[in-house]
Amino acid sequence: MLWCLYGLLLVLCVSPLACLVTSSCPEGCCCPHPGLLVLCESLGLRSLPVSVPLNTSVLSVARNQFCNVDHLLRPFSSLQELSLSHNQLAHFPRGLPPSLETLQLQKNRITYITTGALRQLGNLTRLDLEDNRIRTIQPGALLGLGRLQVLTLKGNRLTILPLNLPASLTHLDLNCLRSVPESAFDGLPSLRSVELANNLWVCECDILYLYRWLLSGRLKMATDLVCAEPTHLAHHMLLTLSVMAICPRGAIKRHPRIYSGFRNKVFTHCYSLNFKWIKLKLCHWPTHNIPFCQSGIVLKYL
Ligand SMILES: *[C@@H]1O[C@H](CO)[C@@H](O)[C@H](O)[C@H]1NC(C)=O
Ligand SMILES: *[C@@H]1O[C@H](CO)[C@@H](O)[C@H](O)[C@H]1NC(C)=O
Repeated sequence: MLWCLYGLLLVLCVSPLACLVTSSCPEGCCCPHPGLLVLCESLGLRSLPVSVPLNTSVLSVARNQFCNVDHLLRPFSSLQELSLSHNQLAHFPRGLPPSLETLQLQKNRITYITTGALRQLGNLTRLDLEDNRIRTIQPGALLGLGRLQVLTLKGNRLTILPLNLPASLTHLDLNCLRSVPESAFDGLPSLRSVELANNLWVCECDILYLYRWLLSGRLKMATDLVCAEPTHLAHHMLLTLSVMAICPRGAIKRHPRIYSGFRNKVFTHCYSLNFKWIKLKLCHWPTHNIPFCQSGIVLKYL
Protein backbone atom coordinates (compact mmCIF):
# COMPACT_ATOMS: atom_id res chain seq x y z
CA MET A 1 0.00 0.00 0.00
CA LEU A 2 2.78 2.36 0.89
CA TRP A 3 4.56 1.40 -2.29
CA CYS A 4 1.37 2.10 -4.22
CA LEU A 5 1.02 5.53 -2.71
CA TYR A 6 4.63 6.28 -3.44
CA GLY A 7 4.09 5.26 -7.07
CA LEU A 8 1.05 7.44 -7.27
CA LEU A 9 2.80 10.46 -5.86
CA LEU A 10 5.61 9.89 -8.32
CA VAL A 11 3.11 9.99 -11.18
CA LEU A 12 1.55 13.15 -9.77
CA CYS A 13 4.89 14.89 -9.42
CA VAL A 14 6.68 13.66 -12.52
CA SER A 15 3.98 13.49 -15.17
CA PRO A 16 3.94 16.60 -17.32
CA LEU A 17 0.19 16.12 -17.64
CA ALA A 18 -0.20 16.35 -13.89
CA CYS A 19 -2.67 13.51 -14.04
CA LEU A 20 -5.45 13.60 -11.60
CA VAL A 21 -6.21 10.13 -10.43
CA THR A 22 -9.85 9.72 -9.50
CA SER A 23 -11.91 6.68 -8.70
CA SER A 24 -13.49 6.67 -12.18
CA CYS A 25 -10.11 6.59 -13.87
CA PRO A 26 -8.98 3.09 -14.93
CA GLU A 27 -5.89 1.82 -13.19
CA GLY A 28 -2.68 3.00 -14.81
CA CYS A 29 -4.52 5.47 -17.05
CA CYS A 30 -4.48 9.21 -16.85
CA CYS A 31 -7.67 11.25 -16.66
CA PRO A 32 -6.81 14.96 -16.78
CA HIS A 33 -10.52 15.77 -17.20
CA PRO A 34 -12.44 12.92 -15.60
CA GLY A 35 -15.28 11.59 -17.70
CA LEU A 36 -14.08 13.58 -20.66
CA LEU A 37 -10.49 12.73 -21.48
CA VAL A 38 -9.00 9.30 -20.73
CA LEU A 39 -5.41 8.47 -21.67
CA CYS A 40 -4.30 4.85 -21.38
CA GLU A 41 -1.08 4.98 -23.36
CA SER A 42 2.04 2.79 -23.31
CA LEU A 43 0.64 0.34 -20.76
CA GLY A 44 1.18 -2.87 -22.74
CA LEU A 45 -2.63 -3.28 -22.88
CA ARG A 46 -4.16 -6.04 -24.99
CA SER A 47 -7.74 -5.19 -24.08
CA LEU A 48 -9.69 -2.15 -22.99
CA PRO A 49 -9.77 -1.49 -19.22
CA VAL A 50 -13.31 -2.26 -18.04
CA SER A 51 -13.61 0.93 -16.04
CA VAL A 52 -13.29 3.47 -18.88
CA PRO A 53 -16.44 5.60 -18.36
CA LEU A 54 -18.96 5.07 -21.17
CA ASN A 55 -19.48 8.82 -21.50
CA THR A 56 -15.80 9.49 -22.35
CA SER A 57 -15.41 11.99 -25.20
CA VAL A 58 -11.71 11.59 -25.89
CA LEU A 59 -9.91 8.28 -25.48
CA SER A 60 -6.35 7.35 -26.30
CA VAL A 61 -5.12 3.80 -26.06
CA ALA A 62 -2.11 4.58 -28.26
CA ARG A 63 1.14 2.62 -27.94
CA ASN A 64 -0.33 -0.60 -26.60
CA GLN A 65 -0.67 -4.09 -28.02
CA PHE A 66 -4.25 -4.17 -29.26
CA CYS A 67 -4.72 -6.66 -32.11
CA ASN A 68 -8.46 -6.35 -32.44
CA VAL A 69 -10.95 -3.85 -31.01
CA ASP A 70 -13.97 -4.91 -33.07
CA HIS A 71 -17.24 -3.80 -31.43
CA LEU A 72 -15.48 -3.01 -28.13
CA LEU A 73 -15.97 0.71 -28.48
CA ARG A 74 -19.52 0.66 -29.78
CA PRO A 75 -21.09 1.46 -26.33
CA PHE A 76 -19.07 4.69 -26.05
CA SER A 77 -21.81 6.73 -27.64
CA SER A 78 -20.25 10.14 -26.86
CA LEU A 79 -16.77 9.29 -28.11
CA GLN A 80 -15.56 12.00 -30.47
CA GLU A 81 -11.81 11.46 -30.56
CA LEU A 82 -10.12 8.10 -30.49
CA SER A 83 -6.47 7.21 -30.83
CA LEU A 84 -5.49 3.62 -31.51
CA SER A 85 -2.15 4.58 -33.01
CA HIS A 86 0.96 2.44 -32.49
CA ASN A 87 -0.87 -0.82 -31.90
CA GLN A 88 -1.02 -4.08 -33.83
CA LEU A 89 -4.41 -3.86 -35.50
CA ALA A 90 -4.46 -6.06 -38.59
CA HIS A 91 -7.70 -4.67 -39.98
CA PHE A 92 -9.76 -1.50 -39.79
CA PRO A 93 -11.77 -1.72 -36.53
CA ARG A 94 -15.39 -2.77 -36.94
CA GLY A 95 -18.27 -1.41 -34.88
CA LEU A 96 -16.84 2.00 -33.97
CA PRO A 97 -19.25 4.54 -32.49
CA PRO A 98 -20.88 6.80 -35.13
CA SER A 99 -20.16 9.84 -32.93
CA LEU A 100 -16.43 9.74 -33.86
CA GLU A 101 -14.97 12.90 -35.35
CA THR A 102 -11.24 12.13 -35.14
CA LEU A 103 -9.77 8.67 -35.57
CA GLN A 104 -6.06 7.99 -35.32
CA LEU A 105 -4.84 4.63 -36.57
CA GLN A 106 -1.25 5.44 -37.47
CA LYS A 107 1.39 2.73 -37.06
CA ASN A 108 -0.76 -0.36 -37.17
CA ARG A 109 -0.78 -3.28 -39.59
CA ILE A 110 -3.91 -2.56 -41.59
CA THR A 111 -3.62 -3.92 -45.14
CA TYR A 112 -6.87 -2.91 -46.83
CA ILE A 113 -10.01 -0.81 -46.37
CA THR A 114 -13.27 -2.34 -47.53
CA THR A 115 -16.33 -0.44 -48.62
CA GLY A 116 -18.32 -1.27 -45.51
CA ALA A 117 -15.61 -0.51 -42.95
CA LEU A 118 -16.39 3.19 -42.55
CA ARG A 119 -20.08 3.18 -43.36
CA GLN A 120 -21.21 4.46 -39.97
CA LEU A 121 -18.57 7.12 -39.53
CA GLY A 122 -20.37 9.99 -41.25
CA ASN A 123 -19.22 12.51 -38.61
CA LEU A 124 -15.51 11.84 -39.11
CA THR A 125 -13.54 14.97 -39.98
CA ARG A 126 -10.04 13.55 -39.55
CA LEU A 127 -8.70 10.09 -40.33
CA ASP A 128 -5.04 9.23 -39.84
CA LEU A 129 -3.89 6.01 -41.45
CA GLU A 130 -0.20 6.77 -41.82
CA ASP A 131 2.38 3.99 -41.60
CA ASN A 132 0.15 0.99 -42.06
CA ARG A 133 0.44 -1.61 -44.81
CA ILE A 134 -2.52 -0.52 -46.89
CA ARG A 135 -2.37 -1.74 -50.48
CA THR A 136 -6.02 -1.41 -51.37
CA ILE A 137 -8.84 0.98 -50.59
CA GLN A 138 -11.98 -0.28 -52.28
CA PRO A 139 -13.50 2.31 -54.61
CA GLY A 140 -16.15 4.20 -52.69
CA ALA A 141 -14.90 3.06 -49.26
CA LEU A 142 -14.42 6.69 -48.21
CA LEU A 143 -17.38 8.13 -50.01
CA GLY A 144 -19.79 8.03 -47.06
CA LEU A 145 -17.46 10.28 -45.04
CA GLY A 146 -19.32 13.43 -45.98
CA ARG A 147 -17.47 15.61 -43.44
CA LEU A 148 -13.96 14.25 -43.82
CA GLN A 149 -11.45 17.07 -44.16
CA VAL A 150 -8.08 15.54 -43.34
CA LEU A 151 -6.88 12.19 -44.63
CA THR A 152 -3.34 10.98 -44.14
CA LEU A 153 -2.15 7.89 -45.96
CA LYS A 154 1.63 8.37 -46.02
CA GLY A 155 3.78 5.34 -45.38
CA ASN A 156 1.45 2.78 -46.93
CA ARG A 157 1.70 0.67 -50.06
CA LEU A 158 -0.84 2.36 -52.26
CA THR A 159 0.51 2.96 -55.74
CA ILE A 160 -2.58 4.66 -57.07
CA LEU A 161 -4.76 7.40 -55.60
CA PRO A 162 -7.98 5.96 -54.12
CA LEU A 163 -11.05 6.62 -56.24
CA ASN A 164 -14.11 8.52 -54.99
CA LEU A 165 -12.56 10.59 -52.22
CA PRO A 166 -15.07 12.70 -50.25
CA ALA A 167 -15.74 16.13 -51.72
CA SER A 168 -15.25 17.72 -48.28
CA LEU A 169 -11.52 16.89 -48.22
CA THR A 170 -9.22 19.86 -47.55
CA HIS A 171 -5.95 18.07 -46.80
CA LEU A 172 -4.56 14.88 -48.24
CA ASP A 173 -1.17 13.25 -48.01
CA LEU A 174 0.11 10.19 -49.70
CA ASN A 175 3.28 8.58 -50.87
CA CYS A 176 4.41 5.62 -52.96
CA LEU A 177 2.14 6.86 -55.74
CA ARG A 178 3.29 6.29 -59.28
CA SER A 179 0.50 8.16 -60.96
CA VAL A 180 -2.82 9.91 -60.41
CA PRO A 181 -5.81 8.73 -62.45
CA GLU A 182 -7.42 11.09 -64.92
CA SER A 183 -9.84 13.53 -63.17
CA ALA A 184 -8.96 12.18 -59.70
CA PHE A 185 -8.96 15.65 -58.09
CA ASP A 186 -11.84 17.08 -60.11
CA GLY A 187 -14.42 16.22 -57.47
CA LEU A 188 -12.46 17.78 -54.61
CA PRO A 189 -13.27 21.50 -54.72
CA SER A 190 -12.21 22.16 -51.11
CA LEU A 191 -8.73 20.66 -51.40
CA ARG A 192 -6.23 23.20 -50.10
CA SER A 193 -3.19 21.10 -49.48
CA VAL A 194 -1.94 17.87 -50.96
CA GLU A 195 1.37 16.42 -49.89
CA LEU A 196 2.74 14.80 -52.98
CA ALA A 197 6.48 14.66 -52.31
CA ASN A 198 8.18 11.32 -51.78
CA ASN A 199 6.16 9.54 -54.39
CA LEU A 200 7.55 7.39 -57.16
CA TRP A 201 6.21 9.35 -60.09
CA VAL A 202 6.32 7.71 -63.45
CA CYS A 203 6.70 10.74 -65.70
CA GLU A 204 4.97 9.34 -68.75
CA CYS A 205 1.78 10.30 -70.60
CA ASP A 206 -0.44 9.22 -67.70
CA ILE A 207 1.03 11.89 -65.42
CA LEU A 208 -0.24 14.72 -67.64
CA TYR A 209 -3.52 15.01 -65.72
CA LEU A 210 -1.59 15.76 -62.50
CA TYR A 211 0.85 18.00 -64.39
CA ARG A 212 -1.95 20.14 -65.81
CA TRP A 213 -3.85 20.16 -62.52
CA LEU A 214 -0.79 21.52 -60.73
CA LEU A 215 -0.12 24.08 -63.42
CA SER A 216 -3.66 25.45 -63.13
CA GLY A 217 -3.02 27.40 -59.95
CA ARG A 218 -1.86 24.64 -57.59
CA LEU A 219 1.88 25.22 -57.95
CA LYS A 220 2.25 25.64 -54.20
CA MET A 221 1.47 21.96 -53.80
CA ALA A 222 4.07 20.94 -56.31
CA THR A 223 7.31 21.31 -54.44
CA ASP A 224 9.64 18.36 -54.75
CA LEU A 225 7.69 16.35 -57.28
CA VAL A 226 10.54 14.28 -58.61
CA CYS A 227 10.28 11.65 -61.32
CA ALA A 228 11.41 8.15 -60.42
CA GLU A 229 10.82 6.76 -63.92
CA PRO A 230 11.44 6.48 -66.83
CA THR A 231 15.19 6.15 -66.43
CA HIS A 232 16.13 9.12 -68.61
CA LEU A 233 13.88 11.42 -66.54
CA ALA A 234 14.74 10.02 -63.11
CA HIS A 235 15.56 12.80 -60.61
CA HIS A 236 14.02 15.50 -62.81
CA MET A 237 11.42 17.78 -61.25
CA LEU A 238 8.11 17.03 -62.94
CA LEU A 239 7.13 20.65 -63.49
CA THR A 240 10.40 21.62 -65.13
CA LEU A 241 9.70 19.15 -67.94
CA SER A 242 7.82 19.97 -71.10
CA VAL A 243 4.74 18.06 -72.18
CA MET A 244 6.72 16.63 -75.07
CA ALA A 245 9.50 15.43 -72.79
CA ILE A 246 6.91 13.63 -70.68
CA CYS A 247 4.74 12.29 -73.45
CA PRO A 248 6.66 12.19 -76.75
CA ARG A 249 5.19 10.60 -79.83
CA GLY A 250 7.66 7.79 -79.44
CA ALA A 251 5.78 6.67 -76.31
CA ILE A 252 3.75 4.39 -78.53
CA LYS A 253 6.60 2.16 -79.47
CA ARG A 254 5.82 -0.16 -76.62
CA HIS A 255 2.66 -1.34 -78.33
CA PRO A 256 3.68 -1.55 -81.98
CA ARG A 257 1.21 -4.33 -82.77
CA ILE A 258 -1.77 -2.30 -81.66
CA TYR A 259 -0.43 0.93 -83.08
CA SER A 260 0.01 -0.43 -86.57
CA GLY A 261 -3.70 -0.19 -87.39
CA PHE A 262 -3.98 3.55 -86.67
CA ARG A 263 -2.48 6.59 -88.31
CA ASN A 264 -2.41 9.51 -85.89
CA LYS A 265 -4.01 7.80 -82.92
CA VAL A 266 -1.85 6.22 -80.37
CA PHE A 267 -2.27 3.90 -77.42
CA THR A 268 -0.05 4.90 -74.58
CA HIS A 269 -1.32 2.66 -71.87
CA CYS A 270 -2.93 -0.70 -71.78
CA TYR A 271 -3.60 -3.29 -69.19
CA SER A 272 -5.33 -6.56 -69.12
CA LEU A 273 -8.82 -6.72 -67.65
CA ASN A 274 -8.98 -10.40 -68.32
CA PHE A 275 -7.50 -12.61 -70.95
CA LYS A 276 -9.96 -11.49 -73.61
CA TRP A 277 -10.19 -7.77 -73.15
CA ILE A 278 -7.85 -4.88 -72.80
CA LYS A 279 -8.55 -1.37 -71.64
CA LEU A 280 -6.76 1.31 -73.54
CA LYS A 281 -5.99 4.93 -73.31
CA LEU A 282 -6.27 6.52 -76.70
CA CYS A 283 -4.18 9.60 -77.36
CA HIS A 284 -3.82 11.69 -80.45
CA TRP A 285 -1.98 14.84 -81.29
CA PRO A 286 -4.42 17.20 -82.97
CA THR A 287 -2.31 20.37 -82.83
CA HIS A 288 0.80 21.86 -81.28
CA ASN A 289 2.15 18.45 -80.37
CA ILE A 290 -0.01 18.41 -77.25
CA PRO A 291 -1.55 15.00 -76.77
CA PHE A 292 -5.23 14.65 -76.09
CA CYS A 293 -6.11 11.43 -74.30
CA GLN A 294 -9.33 9.58 -73.68
CA SER A 295 -9.47 6.62 -71.39
CA GLY A 296 -11.93 3.86 -70.81
CA ILE A 297 -12.01 2.48 -74.33
CA VAL A 298 -12.36 -1.23 -74.14
CA LEU A 299 -11.60 -3.32 -77.18
CA LYS A 300 -11.62 -6.99 -77.71
CA TYR A 301 -8.16 -8.35 -77.71
CA LEU A 302 -7.44 -10.26 -80.91
C1 LIG B 1 -19.92 10.57 -16.87
O1 LIG B 1 -20.60 9.63 -16.10
C2 LIG B 1 -20.24 9.66 -14.71
C3 LIG B 1 -20.97 8.53 -14.03
O2 LIG B 1 -20.65 7.32 -14.65
C4 LIG B 1 -20.60 11.01 -14.12
O3 LIG B 1 -20.18 11.05 -12.77
C5 LIG B 1 -19.91 12.10 -14.90
O4 LIG B 1 -20.33 13.37 -14.46
C6 LIG B 1 -20.23 11.97 -16.39
N1 LIG B 1 -19.43 12.95 -17.11
C7 LIG B 1 -19.90 13.68 -18.08
C8 LIG B 1 -18.92 14.62 -18.73
O5 LIG B 1 -21.05 13.62 -18.44
C1 LIG C 1 -22.93 14.14 -35.80
O1 LIG C 1 -22.72 15.53 -35.68
C2 LIG C 1 -23.90 16.28 -35.54
C3 LIG C 1 -23.54 17.76 -35.58
O2 LIG C 1 -22.40 18.05 -34.86
C4 LIG C 1 -24.59 15.89 -34.25
O3 LIG C 1 -25.78 16.62 -34.08
C5 LIG C 1 -24.90 14.41 -34.31
O4 LIG C 1 -25.45 13.99 -33.07
C6 LIG C 1 -23.62 13.62 -34.58
N1 LIG C 1 -23.94 12.22 -34.77
C7 LIG C 1 -23.62 11.30 -33.88
C8 LIG C 1 -24.01 9.90 -34.22
O5 LIG C 1 -23.03 11.56 -32.85
